[in-house]
Amino acid sequence: MSNSEFWNKRALTFGHTGWANYSIYAFDQLARLKALESILTKLTIESGLALDFGTGSGDFARMLSKTFEKVIAFDTSEEVIAIGKNQSGHILNIQFCTGSSVMDVEISDSSLDLILSVTVLGHLMDDNLLHSHLQFFKNKLTNNGQIIALEYTPPNKIPQSEYQKFLTFSEWQDAFSENGFILDDCYGFYSPTEASCNSYDKYRGYLIVKILRIFQRFEWPRNKLAIVAKKSVNDNDDYFWPNESNDLLKIMVYKKS
Ligand SMILES: C[S@@+](CC[C@H](N)C(=O)[O-])C[C@H]1O[C@@H](n2cnc3c(N)ncnc32)[C@H](O)[C@@H]1O
Repeated sequence: MSNSEFWNKRALTFGHTGWANYSIYAFDQLARLKALESILTKLTIESGLALDFGTGSGDFARMLSKTFEKVIAFDTSEEVIAIGKNQSGHILNIQFCTGSSVMDVEISDSSLDLILSVTVLGHLMDDNLLHSHLQFFKNKLTNNGQIIALEYTPPNKIPQSEYQKFLTFSEWQDAFSENGFILDDCYGFYSPTEASCNSYDKYRGYLIVKILRIFQRFEWPRNKLAIVAKKSVNDNDDYFWPNESNDLLKIMVYKKS
């Protein structure tokens, strides 16, 4: 199965390309949004043009559209782009686009103030593809522009899966540095399955969540799970923290070197 067939199938099955397990997705996607929204407020970049690379169903593009004049939301899966467009009909400053590569999208050099990649770069399985994307990003970013990448960053090498590369933190830094970037800021991020946090454990421990999880293959429990997850995420911020050496996932903020 090709990369885009894999993601198209997930989009058609789940309505998005995030965690397949909805009770995980409900909390995790919100935690990612909250953490990134908070980190964005600390950046001193212009708020003109942003690219959400591998936008999926567009949650992060919609978040960026509140701050940036225009957001380009690109994904190689045409099925998930159709879902993203459908969910963003009322928002006029997002340009959804799809194709075999973001490098085919017409973007002027030195025009992007921000590039966001939420668990996408780690799916570029070929080293050359990762490097060509980072080169492309370097050309398209303004001099003051930044890239935020949320990725798996295991402290020690773990085997890659069919669709996930699992670069270590130091391998990410090497890849970015070889393409003209330097790490500017960094945060650890929890993992629902392997490096949990108190607020997630508490959410999963609620009786209502335990019951709703049993029926989550149906549509009706999902809104209810989303409400409980929203409260758990909004009332806490323990799902991200200042960079530590052994974070399984990190939110890395790079600037041009
Ligand atoms: C784990 S999902 C993350 C989606 C979205 N960023 C989010 O967090 O909701 C990875 C996404 O990357 C997309 N993708 C995979 N390879 C890509 C590529 N070469 N260029 C752009 N998008 C890609 C997939 O179609 C999928 O939507």
